[in-house]
Formats: sequence, structure tokens, C-alpha cells
Amino acid sequence: TSVKNFQKDLITWFKANQRDLPWREDQDPYKVWVSEIMLQQTRVDTVIPFFNNFMGKFPTIQALARADEGDVLKAWEGLGYYSRARNLQTAVREVKETYNGIVPNTKAEISKLKGVGPYTSGAILSIAYGIPEPAVDGNVMRVISRIFAKYDDIGKDKTRKNIEKMITSLISHEDPSSFNQGLMELGALICTPTSPSCTVCPVQSHCEAFKLGVQSELPVKVKK
Ligand code: ADE
Repeated sequence: TSVKNFQKDLITWFKANQRDLPWREDQDPYKVWVSEIMLQQTRVDTVIPFFNNFMGKFPTIQALARADEGDVLKAWEGLGYYSRARNLQTAVREVKETYNGIVPNTKAEISKLKGVGPYTSGAILSIAYGIPEPAVDGNVMRVISRIFAKYDDIGKDKTRKNIEKMITSLISHEDPSSFNQGLMELGALICTPTSPSCTVCPVQSHCEAFKLGVQSELPVKVKK
């Protein structure tokens, strides 16, 4: 089917072309969690040294749970959006107290943790636990808007929810991690906001926007 071919084309490309990033070295849910929080408002190149330093200082849930808040905020200096760091420590303490230090592996439980929204919960469940849940950030919304030539405003929560539904029926159940990270990586390396590299895109044959020649019009983001 075309869904199976799409999965295969995306995952094969991701495995051959993914960047070596420190949070991809293993599937530790804590490392995936910290990296996804850092990556929410900050670029990959900026995050790398902060992630490595943070893991040196707070290598485990236990270590971050017992750390002084001041030390955590100091390690976050330069990343900004300090509420991310405060929420992360609050949530890690909750995991230690309530879940014996094990990051929960259900959408319902993980979503109750402070600072863990739909994107972060989907990223942790798919990347660390191999559970087929969507992880929709701005990159993924751009890629999906183009593949389906959808002109819905990606600034609307309804659009994000729709895209989550579409991914739920597209995602590989054999390798949800590579599927979701493949969409993110495609958005970062090929399906870029301006001048996407469609000639070398691994899913060009599946892309409605390319077929129609409208990739530069998508995604639609209505100014607030
Ligand atoms: N952006 C958000 N999450 C990412 C990830 N896991 N890898 C690369 N870029 C990302």
C-alpha cells in the first residue's frame, strides 16, 4: 500500500541520513525527555552543548530530583525560558515519588507531568518506548501540510489535532521512533520552511504539494 511505502521510504532515509545527536545515543526516557524540552524553543546546534553539560551534572532522574533548583537554573543559563527547567525538575520529582523513578509509558500518565504537552509526551512514548503515538511540532506540521497539500492554518489547535489524527493512521507500528524522528529530520534537513530540497526528498513521490507545485505556499500560518 502507499502508507507502507511512505513508511519505508521515510524510515530508510532517516536511518541512512540522521544526524549524530547526543540524545540519540540511547533510548533512555530521561534523556529523550530533557532533549525534547530543550529543543522546544531552541535550535539543535544551540542545544547540543547544553544537553551534554546538563547530562554531566544531572545524569539521572534521581540526580535531577535531588539537585538544588539554583544549580539547575544555572545549567539552563543561555537556553532561556526558565520555566521549562523549573517544570522539568518538578515533573522529575513527581516521577521519583509517584512512579519509583520510572517515566510512565502511557499517554494519560505522562501527560499529567508538569510541562509535558502533547508533543513531548508523543516524542517520549515513541522514541524511548516504541509506542506508536504522534509527536507533532512545527517541523512535522510543515511536512504533513505539504505532503497532503493542506491549507489549514497551522497556528490553530484544531489543525494540530487533525495532523495528530493523520499521523496516527500513518505511523509505522514496527518503528514508531524512526518514523517520528524521520518526519522531524525531514523538516530540519530537506522540507525546510523556504526553498525545500524537493529534488532530493525521499518522499517526493508521496507529496501532493510537490505534485501541484505549491510547496512554497505551504504551510499556511495566519499572522496573529
Ligand atoms: N527537534 C525536536 N526533537 C528533535 C529530535 N529528537 N531530533 C532532532 N530535532 C528535534
